Amino acid sequence: MRKSKFWPMVVVLLLAMALLSACATPAAAPAGDAAAGDEGTAAEAAGDSANQVEVFSWWTGGGEAAGLEAMIGVFNAEYPDIEFINAAVAGGAGTNARAVLATRLQAGDAPDSWQGHAGQELIGTYVAADQLEPVNFLFEENGWLDVMPETLIPLISQNGNIYSVPVNIHRANVLWYNPGILADNGLEAPTDLDSWFAAMDALQAAGVEAPLAMGEQWTAMHLFETVLLSSLGPDAYDAVWSGEGDWAGEDVTAALENFAKTLSYTNSDASALTWQDASRLVVDGDAAFNVMGDWAEGYFREIGMAPQEDYGWTPVPGSNGNFQFLSDSFVLPVGAPHRDAAIAWLTVAGSQAGQDAFNPVKGSIPARSDGDRSLYGEYLLSAMDDWASDRVVGSLTHGVVANDAWKSEIDTALGLFLTNSDVAAFQDALVNACAAAGPCQ
Ligand code: GAL
Repeated sequence: MRKSKFWPMVVVLLLAMALLSACATPAAAPAGDAAAGDEGTAAEAAGDSANQVEVFSWWTGGGEAAGLEAMIGVFNAEYPDIEFINAAVAGGAGTNARAVLATRLQAGDAPDSWQGHAGQELIGTYVAADQLEPVNFLFEENGWLDVMPETLIPLISQNGNIYSVPVNIHRANVLWYNPGILADNGLEAPTDLDSWFAAMDALQAAGVEAPLAMGEQWTAMHLFETVLLSSLGPDAYDAVWSGEGDWAGEDVTAALENFAKTLSYTNSDASALTWQDASRLVVDGDAAFNVMGDWAEGYFREIGMAPQEDYGWTPVPGSNGNFQFLSDSFVLPVGAPHRDAAIAWLTVAGSQAGQDAFNPVKGSIPARSDGDRSLYGEYLLSAMDDWASDRVVGSLTHGVVANDAWKSEIDTALGLFLTNSDVAAFQDALVNACAAAGPCQ
């Protein structure tokens, strides 16, 4: 056979291909995990250039950072060769972090993974902008479809692709109260809006100037969504978000009036307070009530408060039987700088060990159904039971029912309402927001 004059080039090419395939990085799997096979850790496989993972969140303080640290502990134990870079940006509910993330994404500087809420925030924002890689392979490899709730999968999926790894379930519609203040004033924890308003009237008459603690604007939106649920009930609440309901309806007017009344019991310095500051007013005895997600429980525990003594809880009055939920999840961006290390992080975030380290500290229940109940305190055990039996509806403030564009229109209208208390104008703005950015288009 005659040798081609191209033969030396072919040899060079073959050598180069062999070299390339030797350097290729297999998908990461946790050390000691049966699924890992013989592949070793991502760090071992990927070499120095992939030896880190930058994870973006807004968990920097009061209960939240401690939860994240606990999960980082599991990550470090399973992937000792990957350096964890904590790119958290302060600000409750991601108010600052989300803006920083948007700027980074625009500049093509994506972190390896970020915290995103299951629901419209994920699907209507990041997936709509083609910023995420599907992670079905992780669900399949790790058997997560058998342990993640059926309610959740559609909220993190589009066209059969799953786009995030949920780490928890938080409850938004919780009323935290100071048991001592209620007892001293002969009051029970309220069960509906009327008994709540009556209790706050009684407290004001007894000299508690601002019985309901509130913080900066996102906490007002949080209060708004819970009062909307209490006022409308779950069917009509779901309907205004799906586009089947009518934002101009009389029931919405009544809900906005209830919201205005609730605001009348709040502290005048709300806009200057973080959610932790506002929650703290309750356990310090300066306010009787605070409506906040159950990350407040993580905070109360961190500052040494005891359940039932320093703080009690009940569903936001009128929303009993409903679990207004949100779920923190982590994503795999298209073009993640350290993709294998990002996969390693996601593997921990979806694992039982990762979730059982994170959630008892964070004040949330695991997204997985097989969490170890012995690790969770009294409040979280009650949340697990309610999650299993209540009607589930989604949160606005924390990304479930509206995408970022719609939420931002609502936020602008809310900002005005907080200064002028004009129910009619607020309702008009909500009608317009649904028409402009939401499903009423
Ligand atoms: C939510 C987030 C929670 C908690 C809260 C307050 O949006 O899902 O995990 O961090 O903000 O910062």
